[in-house]
Amino acid sequence: MSEKSTDDVIATGKFVSGPRSDALVFFGATGDLAYKQIFPALQNMVRRGGLNVPVIGVAKSGWTLDQLRARAHDSLTRQGGGVDEEAFSKLAQLLQYVDGDYLDPATFEKLHKALGGATRPAHYLAVPPSLFGNVVEALGKSGCAQNARIIIEKPFGHDLASARKLNAILHSVFPESAIFRIDHYLGKEAVENLLFFRFANTFLEPIWNRNYVHSVQITMAETFGVSGRGGFYDATGAIRDVLQNHLLQVVTLLAMEPPTSMYFESLHDEQVKIFRMMPPLDPAHMVRGQFRGYRDEPGVAAGSQVETFAAVRLEVDSWRWAGVPFLVRAGKRLPVAATEVFVKLKQPPLSKLDPGSNYFRFRLGPDLAISLGARIKRPGAEMVSMPAELSAVEQAQSEELTAYERLLTDAMEGDATLFVREDAVEAAWSIVGSVLGNVAPIHAYEPGTWGPAEADRLAADIGGWHNPEM
Ligand code: BG6
Repeated sequence: MSEKSTDDVIATGKFVSGPRSDALVFFGATGDLAYKQIFPALQNMVRRGGLNVPVIGVAKSGWTLDQLRARAHDSLTRQGGGVDEEAFSKLAQLLQYVDGDYLDPATFEKLHKALGGATRPAHYLAVPPSLFGNVVEALGKSGCAQNARIIIEKPFGHDLASARKLNAILHSVFPESAIFRIDHYLGKEAVENLLFFRFANTFLEPIWNRNYVHSVQITMAETFGVSGRGGFYDATGAIRDVLQNHLLQVVTLLAMEPPTSMYFESLHDEQVKIFRMMPPLDPAHMVRGQFRGYRDEPGVAAGSQVETFAAVRLEVDSWRWAGVPFLVRAGKRLPVAATEVFVKLKQPPLSKLDPGSNYFRFRLGPDLAISLGARIKRPGAEMVSMPAELSAVEQAQSEELTAYERLLTDAMEGDATLFVREDAVEAAWSIVGSVLGNVAPIHAYEPGTWGPAEADRLAADIGGWHNPEM
């Protein structure tokens, strides 16, 4: 950690360990994630001048390089962004393809050869989690891991024990400073903005605590179901898929104490402290739901008890937050597609005022907004108030760096700020471990609704759930 001083980090906003990666290898090159997220991110990285090294796709599809290029082209045409001819032709030149089974050492020999003179490759594992361990070990044995970085997709384990096991395998080959665990929420502009809004504004600090904050709600609502991912989802469920990672990360950013600097270890330390102050989730304060029709999805078991909706009420037992309810919910096939944080402030002591009209609203997706809910006088003779929202930011996110572009660039530069540290991933599993499986009943809900009505009881004493609008 002595390579850079705090001054350097503040000046550049980055803490990097070691030189930039001189090759990017991505396992799962013919898969769904590559198609949806990685090719668009790679083209953007090339377009902005941030990628000019060999990009080696690895998969077991019996494909040729030309087929992979065609797949990349198709991905860019059909997924967001479209084809930028100049950037794409450059990307097509950088692209290489290694075909082979991840369990066959010959695949890694081919990869070693393809890496040529690269001295600091970054290996990105966009493959099913069951393969993480094998690939990591094979990278080690083949020499491909030497001086390399490893980027791991979520889910990182499926409980505390498996996360620990995976961490042990990773550490047998890579040092922690070379491991980059992805939680793509941390790469979102709007999520990073939570940190900036909190710590770059003096006015917030005096009220950002149990004395002024009434309650905090986080809702991650998606309108689509699990189409095409039934098999994965039925082995996962909402708690493992988004609560243990994306949403608990958001809780830490809202609740943490100021880091001593933007030095990434300090940020991670503060996040982990919050995890340690969160008691294990209580099944009595959780409601699980499943949308009607889920069991008919391909890949889903006929009598599946897996939740497509989860709502929990949790606590952060810190000096700042003790007693403030944090409510978190996530669901598929809800009425709107929006992720939003709603921080309700305590009511001023005037009974005429509408309770709950003072709040901060952070829209984390698909658009970005930071708004302050206030009451102002309604124009006219009467002395009555009306609600108003003051917006600090409100914008579509299309021109921003996508989360994947941001994260791949950072990992290749060795900047771990937006990645999940070993102790954080394990602490998050410790918190949700108590609610995994069928510890709470599953309630059916109609697609297009806000989940099962049973979830209302969790928010009954705080004025109900705040439903984000389109
Ligand atoms: C992924 C989950 O991690 O995040 C998906 O596996 C979910 O189920 C997705 O749909 C949501 O990401 P975003 O960026 O669209 O909010």
